[in-house]
Amino acid sequence: MTEDPIYKKEILFPSYSGSNESLLNLLNKTSKILCKWFSDSEKLGPLPIDKSFKCSVPDEFGNSTDILFAEIESLIYSSFNPVHPGSLAHIDPPPLIISILGDLIAASLNNNLLAYELSPSISLLEETICKWFSKKLGFNEFSGGIAASGGTLSNLNALVAARHHAGLESDPDAVYLISEEAHSSFLKCTRIMGLGKNNLIKVKTDKNGSMDINNLNEIIDKCTKVGKKIFSIVATLGTTIRGAIDPIENISKICKERNIWLHIDGSIGGIFAITKIPINGIKTVHYANSITINPQKILGVTKTSSILLVSDMDFLKNTFFTGLPYVSEESDFPNRGELGIQGSRPAEIIKLWLSLRFLGMNGIEDVLISSINRREYLENNINTEKYELYSGPLHIISFLPKGMCKKDSDIWTLNKRNSLMKKNFMLSRPVFKNRYFLRAVLGNFNTSKATIDELLKLLN
Ligand SMILES: Cc1ncc(COP(=O)(O)O)c(C=O)c1O
Repeated sequence: MTEDPIYKKEILFPSYSGSNESLLNLLNKTSKILCKWFSDSEKLGPLPIDKSFKCSVPDEFGNSTDILFAEIESLIYSSFNPVHPGSLAHIDPPPLIISILGDLIAASLNNNLLAYELSPSISLLEETICKWFSKKLGFNEFSGGIAASGGTLSNLNALVAARHHAGLESDPDAVYLISEEAHSSFLKCTRIMGLGKNNLIKVKTDKNGSMDINNLNEIIDKCTKVGKKIFSIVATLGTTIRGAIDPIENISKICKERNIWLHIDGSIGGIFAITKIPINGIKTVHYANSITINPQKILGVTKTSSILLVSDMDFLKNTFFTGLPYVSEESDFPNRGELGIQGSRPAEIIKLWLSLRFLGMNGIEDVLISSINRREYLENNINTEKYELYSGPLHIISFLPKGMCKKDSDIWTLNKRNSLMKKNFMLSRPVFKNRYFLRAVLGNFNTSKATIDELLKLLN
């Protein structure tokens, strides 16, 4: 075997015996650039001023790290900046510092959650953290969960398990129910499951954005009448536009009576259910068969971080186990690539574990309560004579000047969003109830009362 004439091995892969000086230098340099970017946030604003970033492509001979660092810097300085206090557009808070470390460790270990033998300690860690979550939610000893890369995938894991459990995998008429304010990704889940629009039924919501129980009962009766079997009802704990919560206890009673799988999409609000924060209707989540919790959306665990908790781990085993003929079967411990849709999977649980360990229950509650406080402050001080507001008990609020038609709302929100952006406030512009709204998501720990006062001045 000849030595590679172009590269010193040490700059390609970590050395198994040397000092790893090159890696240390790269990490050091990268950390400095990132920290400077964080510190520059205030003057840069939520979206980059410098749009000169050019996407380069691989060339024949590769490039020095000096060249790459110039490109890395340009990439960083052309990125959306969640750390800026005016970043209020989406459910994308600033990253917890300890979580950044978790991502670095996961990348360096390069373990694979596919199989126990490829990630022994991390497989154990993921099982332990999921069990901890499920106990906190009030599930029993058979419960547990599986991590996945995002809320959509966790919900999809649940729906696939629900349909399998109901024995309706080959029934083309089987349906599942969501509220009309549930997340748009359920349509994607429907398609992935080989189903069509008719297999996804939307239940009306009431004035608070919660699933209307009368309409739910009517739909169930209609399905029964025409022989359509329901494999799941999905309750949303924290809707995307206004943070509304479906009536979980009432829905769970209906599910129990009719033997239907209750899934809770707690992508936004599920994390509140492990705390003592008093929010109506979230202490009954353990009546569900499954719940998605997505700490990337509010706690600041870096993307992606999502877990699906189930009341009985056999649901996942029975649905996803195939056998992995190329992986050793020495251990009794299940391969975690066989408990969900994803096979190979990064050790995303490390950053969640570190974040939870670092914050503790008090820290978690502080972050969550501060988000609610910011939303309350904005809601209590926005001009309600001028604006129509949609909000809920969490940290999201959408608003629009009263009496606007769709066309006017389109123009107003576009202009307002642009003028706010010039003052370094980034809000989003969702379509809701057939009109455009402005939405503020107040999960940004850097957003102070003074920042909200400034925003209020521009709105009121
Ligand atoms: C309530 C809800 N569910 C599911 C999702 C999808 O999550 P993800 O984008 O992580 O796949 C979102 C995204 O914002 C959401 O708000």
